[in-house]
Amino acid sequence: MIYLVGFMGSGKSTIAGKLSEKLNLPYIEMDKAIEEKEQMTISDIFAQFGEAHFRECETHLLKNIGEESVVSTGGGVVLKEENQHYLSTGTVVFLRASWNTIVSRLQNDEDRPLWKGDLTEKHALFALRQPTYESLADLIIEVDNKNPEEIVNEIMDRLKK
Ligand code: S3P
Repeated sequence: MIYLVGFMGSGKSTIAGKLSEKLNLPYIEMDKAIEEKEQMTISDIFAQFGEAHFRECETHLLKNIGEESVVSTGGGVVLKEENQHYLSTGTVVFLRASWNTIVSRLQNDEDRPLWKGDLTEKHALFALRQPTYESLADLIIEVDNKNPEEIVNEIMDRLKK
C-alpha cells in the first residue's frame, strides 16, 4: 500500500492518481470515498456531525482498504494514533509543500472546513502537523516548483531504491 500524506493543497490527489497509473494499482481518494459512502460532502459531514465523526469515517476506511492501492489521504489522517498504525503498514510518502505554496494554491478554496479563519490560525495548524508528517514518512518529496510529472518520476525512482 502506498499512502500519500501532506497538508491540504500539497497535491496528494493529483499525484496519487498519476502514480497509480504508473504502478498499475487502484487509486483511492479517501475524501471522495467518504463522501460517496456517507452521501454527503465533507463540509456537510463536518457541519452536521462534527469533525470527530469525520475522523471515525477516516479510520473505518483506512482499516478496510483491503486491496493493494495508492491512497490519497486527507491532510488530518495522521493525527490519530490508530491511523498512524495503519499507515505504518505501508509506504508513506509525504508531499512537502512550503507554506507559501499552500497559501497560493488554497487562497480561493471554500470547500475545506479546516481551511478557515485567518492565516495565522491556518499557519498554526500547518506548523503543528509538519513534524507528524515527517516522522511517519518513508519518503519525503519536496513539491515546490515541480510539476506533477517530475514529482511522480521522483517518487518512482525513490521507491525503487
Ligand atoms: C482535512 C483535509 C481535507 C479533508 C478534511 C480535513 C485536514 O483533505 O480530509 O477537510 O484535516 O487537513 P485534503 O488534505 O485532501 O484537503
